[in-house]
Amino acid sequence: MPAPYRPRTVVEEVMPSTRRPVPGEKGPHYVYERLAVERSIAALGQALPDFVLLYSMKANPFRPLLELMRSRGLGIDAASAGEVQVALEAGFAPKDIFFSCPGKTEEDLAFALGRATVVADSLGELERLDRIAGQLGRHAGIGLRINPDASLGPQQDARLAEQGKPSKFGIDEELVLARLGAMKALQHVRIEGIHVYLRSQIASAEAICQVTARCVRLARTLEQGLDSRLSWVNVGGGFASALGAGQPSLDLELLRRGMAGLPGQLPRLRFMAEAGRFLAAGAGTFWTPIVDIKDSRGVRFYVTAGGLDGMLRPALALLLARMPQGAPAWPLEPLYSSAECHSIRLVRAGGTPAAGETETVTVAGPLCTALDVLAEAIRLPKAKIGDWIAVSNAGAYCATLSPAGFASRQRPREYLVY
Ligand SMILES: Cc1ncc(COP(=O)(O)O)c(C=O)c1O
Repeated sequence: MPAPYRPRTVVEEVMPSTRRPVPGEKGPHYVYERLAVERSIAALGQALPDFVLLYSMKANPFRPLLELMRSRGLGIDAASAGEVQVALEAGFAPKDIFFSCPGKTEEDLAFALGRATVVADSLGELERLDRIAGQLGRHAGIGLRINPDASLGPQQDARLAEQGKPSKFGIDEELVLARLGAMKALQHVRIEGIHVYLRSQIASAEAICQVTARCVRLARTLEQGLDSRLSWVNVGGGFASALGAGQPSLDLELLRRGMAGLPGQLPRLRFMAEAGRFLAAGAGTFWTPIVDIKDSRGVRFYVTAGGLDGMLRPALALLLARMPQGAPAWPLEPLYSSAECHSIRLVRAGGTPAAGETETVTVAGPLCTALDVLAEAIRLPKAKIGDWIAVSNAGAYCATLSPAGFASRQRPREYLVY
C-alpha cells in the first residue's frame, strides 16, 4: 500500500536537492533547496531595493516554502480565497496578503475582506465589493488591477506586444478613467493601490522597467482623477527564470539600474513587485526512480515510477514540438517555458552521480497515455532498475500543475531541504 501523502515535510540536513534524492524515499518526490530559494530572494531583493517583494504562491504553495518566504520578509500575492486562507495559516498578516485574480465569487470577497487586501478585477466586482463591505459593516482599503492601454511610452518594447489588447485580467485603463466619478462615490471601500501584471517570463529588464514607469504614470493619473492619495503600487513582475540552456536570462544589474529612480518619483507610496517562478523554480528537483527498462522495436525505454502526474511540463513541451507548426519560440505560461526548460540527469541508486557508457533512451512514466514522457531520445549513462531520474527546475508550477489525481497513483511528496 502506498504511504499516505504527507503535505508538510522538512528535512533538516544540508543536502542540495540537485545532488541526490531524499534518503529513505522510495517513490517520486520533489526536493526544494532552501539555500537556492534564499539566493533568489537575495538576488531579486538586491535588484529591487526600494520594493517590497510578494511571493506569488500559485507557483508553489508548499507550506515550508511559504514560511521561508515569510521569514525573509516577503508578502503574498494570492490568486484565490484558498490561497488567502493558506497564507494566513502560514503566518502572514492580512496587511501583507494581496488577493488578485479574475472571477472572485461573492463568497470569496466576503471571506477576503479583512483577511487580505482585495484587488478588484472588474467594474462589477468593484460594486460587489462595496456592497459586501457595507453588509459586513466594514470600510476597506482595496486595489484595482488595471489593464494598461497600448502606450507604454515612446520606447515601447516589442516583447510586450500583448499590451493594450483585450484581456480577462483587470480593468481596462480607459474604463477606469471613464468611471472615476463612480469610483469616488464608493461608500464602503476606498481605492488605495493599483496592480498591473502583463505576463510571465519577461527576460528583458528594459521591458520590466517600462511597465514600472507606466505604473508610476498610472498612479499619478489615478490620484489626480480620484482626488485622493494612493498608498501602494504593485508593478507586477514577470521576472524570467528557468527558461533553459541557450535561452535569454534576466539581467539583474540592468534591472537594478533601470528600476532605481522609479519608486522615488512617488516617495509616499509603497512599491511592490511579485514573483513566483523566479524565487522557486530553480530550487526544485523532481526525483523519480526507474522501475523498468524495456526495449521496443529499437527504442530503449527507462520507465519511471512518476511521470506527468508529477511533471506535466516536459510532456507538454513534447506535445507542442509534435504539432505541425512545432513548439513556439515564446513561453506559454505557466505550462510551457521552452523546450529545454527541464533537464534530465541520472543518479545511481545510492545517490552517486552516474557516469560511464551512455545510451540513447526515452524516459517515460507509467501512465496510460503515450504522452507520459519525461524525455525522448536523450543520451544518458546506462541505467539499472532502482537508479534515479532527476528533473531540474521543478520548484514552480510542477507540484500544483501536474495531474496528480490521474490513475489514483500516490501523489509525490515534497521536501524542503536545509
Ligand atoms: C497576476 C500574476 N502575478 C504573478 C504571477 C506569477 O508569475 P511568475 O511565477 O512568472 O513570477 C502570475 C502568473 O501567472 C500572475 O498571473
